[in-house]
Amino acid sequence: MCGIVGYVGPRPSQDILLAGLARLEYRGYDSAGVAIVDGDGRLGMRKRAGKLAVLRDDLALAPLPAGATGIGHTRWATHGGPTDGNAHPHLADDDRLAVIHNGIIENFGALKQELVSEGYTFRSETDTEVAAVLLGREYRETGDLVEAFRRTVGRLEGAFTLLAVHQDQPGLVVGARRNSPLVIGLGVGENFLGSDVAAFVEHTRNALAIGQDEIVAITADTVTVTNFDGHPVEVEPFEVTWDATAADKGGWSSFMAKEIAEEPEAVANTLRGRIHDGVVAIPELDGLDHLFRDAQRIIIVACGTAAYAGQVGKYAIEQWARVPVDVELAHEFRYRDPVIGPETLVVSISQSGETMDTLMAVKYARERGARTLSICNTQGATIPRESDAIVYTHAGPEVAVASTKAFVAQIAALELLALHIGRIRGILSSTEIAHHVRELEAVPAKIQHVLDLESERIAQLAHWMADTRSVLFLGRNVGFPIAMEGALKLKEITYIHAEGFAAGELKHGPIALIEPGQPVFVLVPSPRESPVLHAKVVSNIEEIQARGARVIAIAEEGDVAVLPSSDEVFRIPLAGPLFEPLLAVVPLHLFALGLATARGLDVDQPRNLAKSVTVE
Ligand code: M6R
Repeated sequence: MCGIVGYVGPRPSQDILLAGLARLEYRGYDSAGVAIVDGDGRLGMRKRAGKLAVLRDDLALAPLPAGATGIGHTRWATHGGPTDGNAHPHLADDDRLAVIHNGIIENFGALKQELVSEGYTFRSETDTEVAAVLLGREYRETGDLVEAFRRTVGRLEGAFTLLAVHQDQPGLVVGARRNSPLVIGLGVGENFLGSDVAAFVEHTRNALAIGQDEIVAITADTVTVTNFDGHPVEVEPFEVTWDATAADKGGWSSFMAKEIAEEPEAVANTLRGRIHDGVVAIPELDGLDHLFRDAQRIIIVACGTAAYAGQVGKYAIEQWARVPVDVELAHEFRYRDPVIGPETLVVSISQSGETMDTLMAVKYARERGARTLSICNTQGATIPRESDAIVYTHAGPEVAVASTKAFVAQIAALELLALHIGRIRGILSSTEIAHHVRELEAVPAKIQHVLDLESERIAQLAHWMADTRSVLFLGRNVGFPIAMEGALKLKEITYIHAEGFAAGELKHGPIALIEPGQPVFVLVPSPRESPVLHAKVVSNIEEIQARGARVIAIAEEGDVAVLPSSDEVFRIPLAGPLFEPLLAVVPLHLFALGLATARGLDVDQPRNLAKSVTVE
């Protein structure tokens, strides 16, 4: 939550900061601000409640002094409501230094009391202002911004990325990070800082990942990274594999619409380079067979949509590799004293690689001796850096808050991993692997088929249902997490009540919710691949239809058994049971998009949410 950008170079920084913030707005969008230092040592600052457009309009009317050193922030409120006063940057008491912050300073109350007792006053309700005032105090004592940072971060508890500029130091931006992201962009005669590479990818694809508990100082020509004790540290360079156009809307009405359309490509790119002649070979896992051979159990930790991908992954890993798998919400896992040790492989899944709950679960697992593997979509992110092994999904940048293409890429990566483990443990024969690989390779074209065939009809259905107050989703086996995903997507961007249930659980309670006209999406398993489950789900459909539900079935092409009891049927191509989720979820993503659009809502930036949840 909160997007951060910093710039030093020869160009006026205001436009660079605003462009960076526009690409980071998915991280938080309740207020935004910039602070700029010009060559004469003047510090200008502007911040406004509301989306970035409000700040942009304000600056267009009354620009800040042109300066080539600056910091910018887009906020997701934690401490203090989304007002002009609580927006970042925050100034030190002498107004000579400006600070932006992502994260939560957990001991800000005690620090504030200390500063108040010394006579300092505060102008906002934020935890960040405490860091600004502390930093200002330390700077006055040391006259050195990096040293002042070192002293300040030594007093802070919690999670933070902090950037600061001081009017006495034009041409310098200093930052620090603990449990919150920050990456460096290396330009020619200019340098950048950002919460993620999207902040500067239109200027440079050469990046450096800053480690935990490190301080970075950038000038136009230099980058210096030290740890919190002041010792220089090596930083890891990487090249961003996508360019700025990948993070643009490219003519689509919303990022979410674009990202759903990119689902086939997201899966294809995640498989690319990892399948050779029917054999799964994941280069990042070379030399790490012991992780999978030694594991007596696997625990998948993730949140939200990523956790639903994990549930599909559980089915795949248990079936193909015969290792017991539990899937846990990262925040529940972390605080329940789980029984884990060196024999446990903890697999984390995260699109952003920055979700604090997931990060804390991974760190906790490592501290307890477990081995860790991260499935992540974002290069240079914190969670993969904290893990023993990484499998990147290659879905490309996902900007819409509602995760769509990353979800299918996560499932594809988990299925590759399941086949990889199945081979290492000698569970699957090469013929079986080749068969599953062929199915997996056919998925992108099948998703495309669903998009081509059903997009229009689903948008139409969503339009008719614009006033619906509640939608239920039913699924069984791997259809269950897909039902949950369908419901989450709908809640998230349409604000309609939605619940996903295991179809078999219906009779144990949820069927009481069915009343005439209640829309229910039902994920129907393939009659050819899973005849027993298919028959059970068809019975469930009959039960709810008899009670007046309006049934919308997602069923395989040619499945006629669903016709008599369904009001609408959307079709997916035949696929093996473990590949069905990759197809069945597509109509649900389209439906959420269609309904939010029909209700005139902001599809990409739903209320109260942020893309990357970097607080616990
Ligand atoms: O970046 P992550 O994959 O770790 O994010 C996890 C969840 O916050 C995320 O999937 C969230 O549930 C999405 N907004 C759902 O669309």
